[in-house]
Amino acid sequence: MQNKIYICDVFEFLEKLPNACIDLAIVDPPYNLKIAKWDSFKNENEFLEFSYKWMELMLLKMKPNGSFYIFNTPYNCALFINFLKDKKLNFNNFITWYKKDGLSYAKTKYVNNQESILFYAMSKKYYFNADEIRIPYESESRIKHAAKKGILKNGKRWYPNEKGKLCPDVWQISSLRHTNKINGKTMKQNHPSPKPKEMIERMIKASSKENDLILDLFAGTGVVSLMAKKLNRNFIGCESNIEYLNKNLRDDLCLKL
Ligand SMILES: C[S@@+](CC[C@H](N)C(=O)[O-])C[C@H]1O[C@@H](n2cnc3c(N)ncnc32)[C@H](O)[C@@H]1O
Repeated sequence: MQNKIYICDVFEFLEKLPNACIDLAIVDPPYNLKIAKWDSFKNENEFLEFSYKWMELMLLKMKPNGSFYIFNTPYNCALFINFLKDKKLNFNNFITWYKKDGLSYAKTKYVNNQESILFYAMSKKYYFNADEIRIPYESESRIKHAAKKGILKNGKRWYPNEKGKLCPDVWQISSLRHTNKINGKTMKQNHPSPKPKEMIERMIKASSKENDLILDLFAGTGVVSLMAKKLNRNFIGCESNIEYLNKNLRDDLCLKL
């Protein structure tokens, strides 16, 4: 079953996936923002029913030391946290993705240019490689100086890490919609909401080891599977619309479960 993306409904897929086999899940589900038919629910209750149902099933598929990331709006993520709070999970972070692009241009409130990502582990014992995802320090000149002589901090001499600083929970990564603009104009994309590769790469490097199995539910373009493959991890996923999938994954598609 591994290293395949199944073209089917998420519930059909999850029902057939064996329990406790996933090391890391990166899940980018519908947001109920009505950006496509698959993102349109009758009302909030219907959306939450759908979301809680796939979450409940996904939890069964996780290994006891596995971890997972879930994308959504800040508001929906708050509701998801409320749902997940009684599941005996280890909540790690409410990550803010500052995407430099708005989800709405309403003039009656502040423009939304963030999305949220919930980062959980199934228990307190989980893998996290903070050194793999260090990011560059902001002040180059100060760091250059510190690298030579160190900086005195709380009575101790501190030297910068050559790989950069530890990654914070606010991620400033341009959305593809933003980076693909030509002369300020948004270009039509094959998928309405693809996630940037560097963001997925960060999650995979931080929360999995080589040969681990990564779950790519609601695969869309299949960026999670593509990055898993690139980083020598195994993947398994599902997507209902074959047209969205990146052509580099065409050999990894499966039409039947
Ligand atoms: C937010 S998008 C994922 C985008 C993806 N992360 C990417 O970067 O390309 C959600 C995807 O879920 C798929 N989808 C929605 N409902 C589904 C369902 N019930 N079963 C399987 N796939 C579904 C949609 O076709 C859509 O491509």
